[in-house]
Amino acid sequence: MIGVGIIGFGTVGVGTYKILSQNSSLLTEKTGLEVKVIKIADIDLDRDRGIDIDRNILTKNAYEVIEDKDVDIVVELVGGITPAFDYITSAIKNKKWVVTANKALLAERGDEIFGLIEKENCEIGFEASVCGGIPVIRAIRDGLVGNKINYILGILNGTSNYILTKMTEEGVSFTDALKDAQILGYAEQDPTLDIEGIDAAHKLSILIRLAFHCPVTMADIITGGISKIEPIDIEFAKEFGYRIKLLGLAKEQDGLIEARVEPAMIPTTHPMSNVNGVYNAVYVIGDRAGPNLYYGKGAGADPTGSAVVSDIMDMAYRIRAKDLKARIPGFKNGVAMIRKGEATPVPFYMRITTEDRTGVLSKISGILSNYDISISTVIQKGRKEKGHVPIIMLTHEAVEKNLKMAKVEIDRLPFIKGESVHIRIEEGNL
Ligand code: HSE
Repeated sequence: MIGVGIIGFGTVGVGTYKILSQNSSLLTEKTGLEVKVIKIADIDLDRDRGIDIDRNILTKNAYEVIEDKDVDIVVELVGGITPAFDYITSAIKNKKWVVTANKALLAERGDEIFGLIEKENCEIGFEASVCGGIPVIRAIRDGLVGNKINYILGILNGTSNYILTKMTEEGVSFTDALKDAQILGYAEQDPTLDIEGIDAAHKLSILIRLAFHCPVTMADIITGGISKIEPIDIEFAKEFGYRIKLLGLAKEQDGLIEARVEPAMIPTTHPMSNVNGVYNAVYVIGDRAGPNLYYGKGAGADPTGSAVVSDIMDMAYRIRAKDLKARIPGFKNGVAMIRKGEATPVPFYMRITTEDRTGVLSKISGILSNYDISISTVIQKGRKEKGHVPIIMLTHEAVEKNLKMAKVEIDRLPFIKGESVHIRIEEGNL
């Protein structure tokens, strides 16, 4: 019998416990293994969690889980950096196997944790840290092991995807869509981590380590959120055959990885453009397997519990087989490097609000051409807002630094109103 201890008995902890207890015979039938939850720690032992549980296995002290001799696998579901880091490192030093859903911790302190795993020669499972119920960690680590991966595109945050989907389908503002997401319980009262791309960047950093064996810090990932996206840009995107999504992108060129999370336009012909609502998806291109698409629920008790249980069972097999060596070579001393500085050129969408008078377009295109930016399409609609009209442009591939400098000059022109908008276009390597 393999003993499991859970630290943090919130949504995912309860989801995990329910799968292990309610599907216990199914798990044994499928794997021939017996796995049992032996101890659970949480600061709140009184809350009604809607389950029957032997209260003798509950404790307020996480170290009772970490130090219990019958616990083989410690599951950390507390989240955040402190005290989760101490729990995980203590468990590793105590020769326990560790499972975590903690993307922030792996993103912020991954080097220390993976270093310790190598040193102590044990294992950490983190399937639940990226895209909840989608077994994407296992797919990249095991399923695509024979491939050199050169491209990852992810919709990694369900809350942002819900908000953008609502804006796209119902034409509502960002603020109204966010309020709706909060009422439905998708977005937190402080939604910063989700809407500013930070949660997605945490997840992307884990995928980058795994796919490219590349040590990566949060500072290496260019990160932007969706709070400045306006319905008008979503509408114009549709007219050009694009949808706006918060995309996590990692692509390799000449051994250098470009990593970014930001709202971008993707063609409506790309499968990622149809990933809607709170769903997540990861599109990966391997040099042998070609493109793969993984799609599913990125959060919630059952989907995330499903991912935690997959790690537990995988470890249980290995504990039984006494296959106790760490399985993350290269995580610390990666084979690829993050690309610093300017990103590879891509096409851009630009929206400039201007007085409707002659000579405007030639001035704007003159500035763009000074910065080596060539325009592929221009449209101007008669949507007058107090005498102003939007000019929409798509550019050919351009260097973003140049585009930003051109934008500053354009925005200084006397007939321009407000700050112009630019959004990357990601064709998605179909
Ligand atoms: N808050 C995340 C999301 C789920 O909206 O996708 C947990 O990472």
